[in-house]
Amino acid sequence: MKTALITGVTGQDGTYLSELLLEKGYHVFGLNRRKAKLNDGDLTNILRNKNFEFLDGDLQEINRLNQIISSIKPDEIYNLAAQSFVPYSWTNPIYTCDVNALGVLRMLEAIRLYSPDTKFYQASSSEIFGKVQSMPQNEITYHYPRSPYGCSKSFGFNITRNYRESYGLFACNGILFNHESERRGMQFVTRKITRTVAEIKMGLSKKLILGNLDAKRDWGYAPDYVEAMWLMLQYKNPDDYIIASGEEHSVREFTELAFKNIDIDIIWKGTGLNEKGYNKKNDDLLVEVSKKFFRPAEVDILKGDSSKAKDILGWKPKVSFKEMIKRMINFDINEIKRSVN
Ligand code: NAP
Ligand code: GDD
Repeated sequence: MKTALITGVTGQDGTYLSELLLEKGYHVFGLNRRKAKLNDGDLTNILRNKNFEFLDGDLQEINRLNQIISSIKPDEIYNLAAQSFVPYSWTNPIYTCDVNALGVLRMLEAIRLYSPDTKFYQASSSEIFGKVQSMPQNEITYHYPRSPYGCSKSFGFNITRNYRESYGLFACNGILFNHESERRGMQFVTRKITRTVAEIKMGLSKKLILGNLDAKRDWGYAPDYVEAMWLMLQYKNPDDYIIASGEEHSVREFTELAFKNIDIDIIWKGTGLNEKGYNKKNDDLLVEVSKKFFRPAEVDILKGDSSKAKDILGWKPKVSFKEMIKRMINFDINEIKRSVN
């Protein structure tokens, strides 16, 4: 039986990847930071599986990582753990870099010293491209990160490639563009929008307050993206791959489509911080802009070229942008219904 260690197992991608590997017959170890109360909503079924095991540990604790990796020597490690919220990386930049940059190096050192045959996947990010230097972005696009988070992920990318080239480790970077789902954290813009729109539909909220409506992202569906992680570690050679949908959409467009799912057309009036979104039918105010959600330096646009992953790994996304929004809205509406009943 193949074994895998997933760090960040309680996050969006960690739960989907655990399900995928368990379905494929793996024994899965999930690195978990101890908490007073485990919020195990998305993990409920996974925790019942006899082939799943939690291991307490933290990317900041080198001794614990060494101990885990030397004792279980897994076939594959998926390093998904990170401080993943970009705005918080300005609030706490040193912590962010300790986990997201040095954390990767701690994992690589543990593998190099105690389990050099383990294959390693690093969760890299399109945030490394930041102020993009070419369109669309591919594996050789210049890194120009715009946040401490982006800088930390650029280090993680480079040190992973360096350990592959210096020590011959089977180490891959998946440069994943934004991917969302029903399990996305509530602070990220897509889930904030779908949850608030669902609350408006259910009469629990009056309006949605956002930051930069003009930011554009290449959004895909998380379950499709975790499959790419697995494919990278099955290929005969280790390498780095862009995983993206190849389409860019603005926050404004995402908002309009989300409201369309509850039969509301949005009409925009005003500009900049004074721009507002109204219900076309009755002129109700539904969307406002607040300075609070703007960033010190913005990533204006991201759009990925995943042709290398398509050609070599045979990977392509299955769920469309529209379908993903529909699934997220329906899930949020049903979850609210369940919680109020
Ligand atoms: P997420 O939902 O925020 O999950 C992050 C996970 O990391 C959680 O399980 C969290 O555990 C864990 N974690 C944080 N700090 C840790 C530490 N010091 N030690 C051990 N575990 C720690 O993130 P995600 O969306 O699933 O993303 C997975 C990875 O892909 C991240 O590295 C992210 O930066 C990267 N990425 C994400 C996207 C995207 O669009 N989703 C795109 C590109 C790259 P707790 O439950 O204890 O907080
Ligand atoms: N969070 C948030 N909240 N973002 C907003 C808001 C708001 O109210 N209003 C506008 N935005 C804009 C942000 O300024 C940004 O340009 C865009 O929406 C997306 O923000 P997030 O959903 O927070 O994601 P992100 O792109 O910063 O980062 C995500 O994707 C990266 C990959 O490119 C995270 O998952 C990172 O961990 C990941 O690496």
